[in-house]
Amino acid sequence: MAKSAYINGRWSDGKDDWFEKTNPANGETSWDGQACSDDQVEDAISAARVAQSDWARRPQHDRTTILEKYAEEVTKRADAIAEAISRDMGKVAWDAKAEAGAMAGKIAISIKAQVERAGTAYSEAAFGSMHLTHRPHGVMAVFGPFNFPGHLPNGHMVPALLAGNACVFKPSELAPSVAHIMVEAFEAAGLPEGLVNVVQGGRDTGAALLDGDINGLLFTGSAQTGLFFHRHFAGRPEVILALEMGGNNPLIIWDPADIDAAADIAAQSAFLTTGQRCSCARRVILPTGKWGDQVVEAIVARAKSLRIGDASEGDAFMGPLVSEQAAQNAVDFQMMLSKKGGKTLRRLKRMDRGGGFVTAGVIDVTAATDIPDEELFGPLMQIIRVDDFDQAIQRANDTKYGLSGGLVSDDDARWLQAHAEMKAGILNRNRPTAGASGAMPFGGPGHSGNFRPGAYYAADYCAWPQASQVSDQATRLGAVGFPK
Ligand code: NAD
Ligand code: SIN
Repeated sequence: MAKSAYINGRWSDGKDDWFEKTNPANGETSWDGQACSDDQVEDAISAARVAQSDWARRPQHDRTTILEKYAEEVTKRADAIAEAISRDMGKVAWDAKAEAGAMAGKIAISIKAQVERAGTAYSEAAFGSMHLTHRPHGVMAVFGPFNFPGHLPNGHMVPALLAGNACVFKPSELAPSVAHIMVEAFEAAGLPEGLVNVVQGGRDTGAALLDGDINGLLFTGSAQTGLFFHRHFAGRPEVILALEMGGNNPLIIWDPADIDAAADIAAQSAFLTTGQRCSCARRVILPTGKWGDQVVEAIVARAKSLRIGDASEGDAFMGPLVSEQAAQNAVDFQMMLSKKGGKTLRRLKRMDRGGGFVTAGVIDVTAATDIPDEELFGPLMQIIRVDDFDQAIQRANDTKYGLSGGLVSDDDARWLQAHAEMKAGILNRNRPTAGASGAMPFGGPGHSGNFRPGAYYAADYCAWPQASQVSDQATRLGAVGFPK
């Protein structure tokens, strides 16, 4: 049984209900332990509070040096990180290794962003000078999603620490293991005790963290949870909320010369990480007619032949979904689309090998009615056929979300129109919708977030600006109509 509470530099057992995570590729237990109790969450917040005030007073250089060391320690542990991620949520080896690599790579980006977006500035003025500085919020609660259980919480915690905050991290209960390796790396880097605390558990542990004395909530997860958190903190503007949520992302394919290239981009957009990326394309929009038919055929051919396997099968493109429940949800979602008039082109099926394994699915929903504007977090692509490009853009924007989108087209004029009119924070041309760069902002309008994009812009929500006009001596001011 694993220890669940890392508070003030020490691991201890959780005091609440026991829970376990099994590997969706083989059913073996990958992590088990007791969830943290409300008292333990409170202790973690108190430890963070005490550690934070000293940390915030340290020079920026000290914080940066420790985080640079952390990058080295993460790199040393890249294999262990990738293995832990694969064991918990089934990510195939190349994908899990890429996540571990992104964790280390993100640290240099965060250091640059801290300087460029949350640093200091000085200018001379007639009365003396003007100073811009940034101040940390205090104690940040960090909630992780299961699909990037290391990279995404890391992408909140590193900028938060650089800015002088302390963190209480609640990993996803579907992927708890990687947090233990992150703690090892922080310890090896010499991060002072109390600045990163971990509380393992599910919703009850999360609820205790929400109700605690925190100054910020840095969340990556589903829109449903994010909206719940947004309501929870209504009327409390003093708590910074950074909500990174999902999407119902569109990809328009419009007359590129290379049909195979278009089909590759579409299939990778929809099926990368078994469709478990927030930026995956859920809806692929194409023109009616023979050319569009050919692209759809090429996409279906890819859905049929892409390799599915576990982390030990080096040539697998897709692993299982995170759990048997997720696999069943995907099947049920497809069934719902069929009942509403969707035509299955390639069925998403649970595979004989069991667990979370499903095949990639493609369903044409052009003639279907009343399709919910929901994210199915799995490898199911909806095809929508339209008569003209304006209609394609209108269908693409017909969602309450706005995370990612794309256009596959060789035509510059189409791209200019799509770029101006498509509502997506990550909008790509002739590139998959998924696989965003950490060196750019990551987030989008609508129910995909609360306009606090992460990645390169995470520095913005980890500190607040303080603007000072400074005169070394108090001097008489004078003003029109003011007594001399
Ligand atoms: P989730 O919302 O189910 O869970 C995320 C975290 O919130 C977990 O730690 C969970 O325990 C906690 N949580 C959930 N409900 C809670 C409650 N009622 N009270 C307290 N805590 C609660 O998300 P998930 O299934 O782990 O992740 C997948 C989702 O995340 C997808 O919707 C995906 O689109 C989204 N996502 C978004 C981004 C982004 O940057 N925009 C990136 C990755 C994933
Ligand atoms: C995600 O955060 O789920 C996806 C990031 C990406 O690969 O675009």
